[in-house]
Amino acid sequence: MHLRPVVRIAILASGGGSNAQRLIEHFRGSAVAGVVLVAGDRPQAGVFARAWDLGVPAYRFTAVQLRDGTLLRELQAQKVDLVVLAGFLRLVPVELLRAFPDRVLNIHPALLPRHGGKGMWGHHVHAAVLAAGDNESGITIHRVNERYDEGEHLFQARCPVLPTDTPGTLAARVLALEHAHYPPVVERVALTLGR
Ligand code: GAR
Repeated sequence: MHLRPVVRIAILASGGGSNAQRLIEHFRGSAVAGVVLVAGDRPQAGVFARAWDLGVPAYRFTAVQLRDGTLLRELQAQKVDLVVLAGFLRLVPVELLRAFPDRVLNIHPALLPRHGGKGMWGHHVHAAVLAAGDNESGITIHRVNERYDEGEHLFQARCPVLPTDTPGTLAARVLALEHAHYPPVVERVALTLGR
C-alpha cells in the first residue's frame, strides 16, 4: 500500500504558545501532517518550553535572521511544506512567502478586516473591539501575504461581546475558538497539499 507522505508543518510563534500546543497535539500520530519544528523570535517566549515538553524541535531566530534568509534556509533544510503562524508578531518577509506560495497561514483574534494591521495583536485587538462597541468578535484564519492580516480568508468563527467584558474575558472566549478551530482548518489545508 502506498501511503502519501505526511505534510511537514513548521509553527512560527512569539508568545505563550497555547495554539502551538493544540496544533502539535492534534497532529501527533496523524497520517495527514505533523509538526516538525517550532520556530520563534523571542528567546523568553513560553512556546519554547511547550515545544520542549512535547518533544518537538525548537529553533530560535533573530529579527535579522528572519530578514536575511537564515530562517528560510532552516525551514527548507527541515523539508517544511506548510508554515503556520500561531501568535507570531513579525511581518513575514516576501522571500519566505515566495518560497511557500499559499502555504503560510495565520490566525487573528478578531473578525478581519476589522481590528487588524500592524500593532494589532493580543490584548490590543480585544481592547480595540471593546472600544469600538462591537457586539461580536471572533477569529479569522487566513493565508499570509506581504501585508499584516490581509491575505485570503479561509475561515471565521464568531462569539458575542458581553457588556461586562474586559480585554481579558474577551480574549479567553476568543482563544477557546482558536483552539477549537485552528487545528482542523490547518488539517484541511494540509489535505490539499498532496506531494
Ligand atoms: C492568539 O490569540 C493569536 O490569535 C494572537 O496571539 C495569541 C497567541 O496566543 N495573534 C495575533 O494577535 C496576531 N496578530 P498563544 O501564544 O497562546 O497561541
